[in-house]
Amino acid sequence: MTQDDLFAAGEPEQPRPEPAELTERIEQLHVEGLAETDAPTEDEVAGGRASAAALSAATADAADVLLEVNDLKVHFPIKRGVVFDKTVGYVYAVDGVSLAVRRGETYGLVGESGCGKSTLGRGILRLEEPTAGQVIFDGVDVAGLAGEELRRTRRRMQMVFQDPLGSLDPRQSVESLLLEGMKAHGLTKGKIETNRELRELLSSVGLPATALRKYPHEFSGGQRQRIGIARALTVGPELIVADEPVSALDVSVQAQVINLMEDLQQERGLTYIVIAHDLAVVRHISDRVGVMYLGALVEEAPSADVYAEPLHPYTRALMSAVPVPDPVLEDTRERIILTGDLPSPANPPTGCRFHTRCPWRQETRCDTERPVLTELKPGHRVACHYATEIGSGRLKPNAEPLQLV
Ligand SMILES: Nc1ncnc2c1ncn2[C@@H]1O[C@H](COP(=O)(O)OP(=O)(O)O)[C@@H](O)[C@H]1O
Ligand code: SF4
Ligand SMILES: [Mg+2]
Repeated sequence: MTQDDLFAAGEPEQPRPEPAELTERIEQLHVEGLAETDAPTEDEVAGGRASAAALSAATADAADVLLEVNDLKVHFPIKRGVVFDKTVGYVYAVDGVSLAVRRGETYGLVGESGCGKSTLGRGILRLEEPTAGQVIFDGVDVAGLAGEELRRTRRRMQMVFQDPLGSLDPRQSVESLLLEGMKAHGLTKGKIETNRELRELLSSVGLPATALRKYPHEFSGGQRQRIGIARALTVGPELIVADEPVSALDVSVQAQVINLMEDLQQERGLTYIVIAHDLAVVRHISDRVGVMYLGALVEEAPSADVYAEPLHPYTRALMSAVPVPDPVLEDTRERIILTGDLPSPANPPTGCRFHTRCPWRQETRCDTERPVLTELKPGHRVACHYATEIGSGRLKPNAEPLQLV
């Protein structure tokens, strides 16, 4: 299997792989990690650069950008005291994220649990009120919206959760779950017409019309996720933020749901932000990937580039944690062991937030100056003062990485 095979599934002109085949690919990715990406062919490198350059040009074209996030912050107050409810600090869950998502694109968001992925997704949809920063959806600043305007914009942005039906009233039938959003947005027509629409919608997510009369607990995890996707689609959104959409599913079912999401994207011209802690899932589905660490993006690039040539020490560490099946490669490949625990977002380190765990940390600057996400190659942004020197091998990892005590 080559890297081309892996990405062929995302190309519209390629025949769509059968779920079994895709499952195999995802499983392979789980174990192979960097095996194939260690030495990309010249074509792959050129292809990656070309697409990155095209994207840079595209993102420069405002009409092509559906979502723009500027320096977004979501801080949660930490309250103490029974009587006075005093704020004693903040959890800096999202602390200065800027990104743009093009129409029809899939943007993958990865990072360890607790790094702020869900909060960022919720902040974009204003399910969480941002502390600062801007969310511009289709040219309009969402923060300035209220009442009817906000409601109309909300309809255009929907969220799909890990188990979207798990948290809902188990006594509600699928039909009433699907109708909820439509009713809230005044989208229901006559009874017959609405019923026909719901049946069509179910069919488009691969479920029979009989599902309408059933209840969430009567479905498997994969089917529940199909209903969750249908539920988001009832209101005709343009952007879907899918938060760990397949994390709770078996690998074979993951592939089917990912295929479904890709089909729906093409049929309906959807734009996706797919959040996952699993690098393999994000790699498969995403055009571009953003890597988060402690509330901020540390790296962002076209998917192939992030996996072939991670430039940030944290991304390199994430990639190096994935084992390789070839025993020779496995023995010789770069392994970056991170020392120290993930710091608390309530008390993030000064300077570069990764400095307490970074094997390349340099005295003073890394501890005091927060690196800005900077474009080092076309479309490839990195937040590290020394990314170029680390990439070229001029800067070696410190022999004894700093341990947190
Ligand atoms: N409503 C909340 N109140 C206080 N802290 C929160 C809240 N939601 C999330 N957090 C904290 O914000 C940080 C980021 O959480 P989250 O966005 O869920 O991360 P991820 O989705 O990457 O696992 C975590 O430390 C989490 O405990
Ligand atoms: S800025 Fe310094 S501490 Fe941060 S990732 Fe780069 S080398 Fe490591
Ligand atoms: Mg989460």
